[in-house]
Amino acid sequence: MQLEFDQSQLCDNHTYAKQHEVMGHRLHGGFDEQGCYVPPRSRSRCIAMANWTAALRERGGELFDADASLLTGPRMPNPEQQALLLRNGFTRSFWNTLTVTGKLEARGRLLADVPFPDMQKVLVEDIGDMALGHLNKGLLWAHGIDEGGQPDEGIGGHDLMWFVARDLVIEPGSHPDVEPPENIARPEAHQRWMPQLPQEFEGMLSLLMNLLMIEFRAEIGFSATQKILRNPQLFTDRREAAELAAEIIERIRTDELIHVESLRIYLGELRELTFKTVEGGTIPAREVIDPFWQGLVDWAVHEQPRLAAKQQLEALEPMIREHGGSALFEQFMALGDNLDG
Ligand SMILES: [Fe+2]
Ligand SMILES: [Fe+2]
Repeated sequence: MQLEFDQSQLCDNHTYAKQHEVMGHRLHGGFDEQGCYVPPRSRSRCIAMANWTAALRERGGELFDADASLLTGPRMPNPEQQALLLRNGFTRSFWNTLTVTGKLEARGRLLADVPFPDMQKVLVEDIGDMALGHLNKGLLWAHGIDEGGQPDEGIGGHDLMWFVARDLVIEPGSHPDVEPPENIARPEAHQRWMPQLPQEFEGMLSLLMNLLMIEFRAEIGFSATQKILRNPQLFTDRREAAELAAEIIERIRTDELIHVESLRIYLGELRELTFKTVEGGTIPAREVIDPFWQGLVDWAVHEQPRLAAKQQLEALEPMIREHGGSALFEQFMALGDNLDG
């Protein structure tokens, strides 16, 4: 079973029968002979992931736990509210959602653009034949390029895919550009969580766990967006384009499965390993990782979504009132998720 790969292998593509192109944009990935979408850089990367997972299980380990319990929390607007707004001719909220999502995806390009510390430096065991030993050998690079594309080569990633999906259903230029809302920071954001490790490694572990949370919870946005796009009562003058937009979201979703699974492998591997501490001792990595993850779950699944929804509502209320008066706003609120529970 091959467990060591070089960068060119981890980033190699399948041979596509057809390239991925929509509205004149070249997008990443492609299609096989049957017309099925095939994610970019997924030929050896997926074989490697399967092999590392098998090896992890042989050592008694398991993928890092992430399940549907992470997919709760209110959404503002939820699909029913979004549909109400669209039926009333208010497209700005949906346009903003897709634009902001695309811009957040673009930030993922960071994984390809900045160097990350070598985890081997703080681990007792040799990670050369694990996924963890390949983070800087193509895995994080491929992940970052999936998110932010290769604009210099004219190939769009997830950011452009969201913008294309948006432009298929809402006339380009209909609304002013919008930036993602300011990040709602965890109240304890500045404290050290893993004082046993040098700061840069704490930063790296925090990044991987936050990324897993974001990637996993992105599913909420995918299904909400597809529900809107596939609603036969919406975008009635361009149903075909709306179905294609939903299909593009499905392709992003397929790509994201690789991201979620790879993060679950990295963290699953880590839980079986031992950290060297700054004080010269050792500590099982799970004793460092698990408490951080638990705190992150409390924040990102329970606290943060409510705060973000309230922030969203504050921004939306004046726009909805301006468009449809109090009557529309009242209908909108009647369909809303509970933001206080
Ligand atoms: Fe993405
Ligand atoms: Fe992703």
